Amino acid sequence: MPIVHLNGQNLPAGDACVPVLDRGFIFGDGVYEVIPVFGGHPFRLSEHLRRLENSLGEVRIPNPHARAEWAALIQRLVDENGGGDQSVYLQVTRGPAARDHALPENPTPTVFAMSNPLHPAAAEILAQGIKAISLDDIRWTRCHIKAISLLPNILLRQTALDAGAAEAILIRDGYATEGAASNLFAVFDEKPGGILVTPPKGPHLLPGITRDVILELAGAHGIAHRESDIRREDLARASEIWVTSSTKEVLPVTTLDDKPVGNGKPGPLFLRIHELYQAYKTGLHDSGDN
Ligand code: PDD
Repeated sequence: MPIVHLNGQNLPAGDACVPVLDRGFIFGDGVYEVIPVFGGHPFRLSEHLRRLENSLGEVRIPNPHARAEWAALIQRLVDENGGGDQSVYLQVTRGPAARDHALPENPTPTVFAMSNPLHPAAAEILAQGIKAISLDDIRWTRCHIKAISLLPNILLRQTALDAGAAEAILIRDGYATEGAASNLFAVFDEKPGGILVTPPKGPHLLPGITRDVILELAGAHGIAHRESDIRREDLARASEIWVTSSTKEVLPVTTLDDKPVGNGKPGPLFLRIHELYQAYKTGLHDSGDN
């Protein structure tokens, strides 16, 4: 049984219990992070912890740990679950309190973390790409906060799955924002070699850590790119569409709304960025400097 962390203690998952009045259970009142771990080293840990701090601050949950404490807690969990490649899930709720919409005065946040094995995308998915459908973005307007209340995301993802697709591309006011659990990139053939475009950060999308890595790699390797809005109708003329996340890395969307994207195969920029991403990870791993 995997080992989880709950409020300062590591214990088998089956022995970890949270009070029923925890506001995470009652209201979905909490925030989370998902941190990939490669070769036993958390990837972009400072960036994930900075985003966690930001989410906590936005929803006014006191941060229960200093950064070094978070880092130690995560490393211990990774080690106790056998190292290697993992995906650490970290959640902080406002903790137990009598049910009342008003914030409790002196909350004791609940800290929970677990880790699951992290598997690379299957070769056939990388070779063929995935299907996606576009759906109206039914979420709230503070999507930059990584909140645990994910009911809209869950329903959107399930609607995509029910339609035989793997991801939903969300549309708000005519603009594509991101996926149900991923960020969005598109390639437009405005210039030779194409230009890579992703919607700018703002309250309508999560500032993805993978998104930042992709933009950094594009910048470092001379791949033309910009952060700008993508209109719903622009998606139909994109030669490539990708979705990115910590657990899925970069996946090519080769069918959108039952129509092929570009020639219906993963495009040349995807192949390049995928290679660069893998090389970057391996380089960090080898230098022990995640
Ligand atoms: N989700 N946008 C949304 C709505 C997400 O839920 C995620 C990731 C991303 C990508 O962010 P990052 O690159 O930092 O993983 C964008 C995680 C993996 C999840 O909920 O499981």
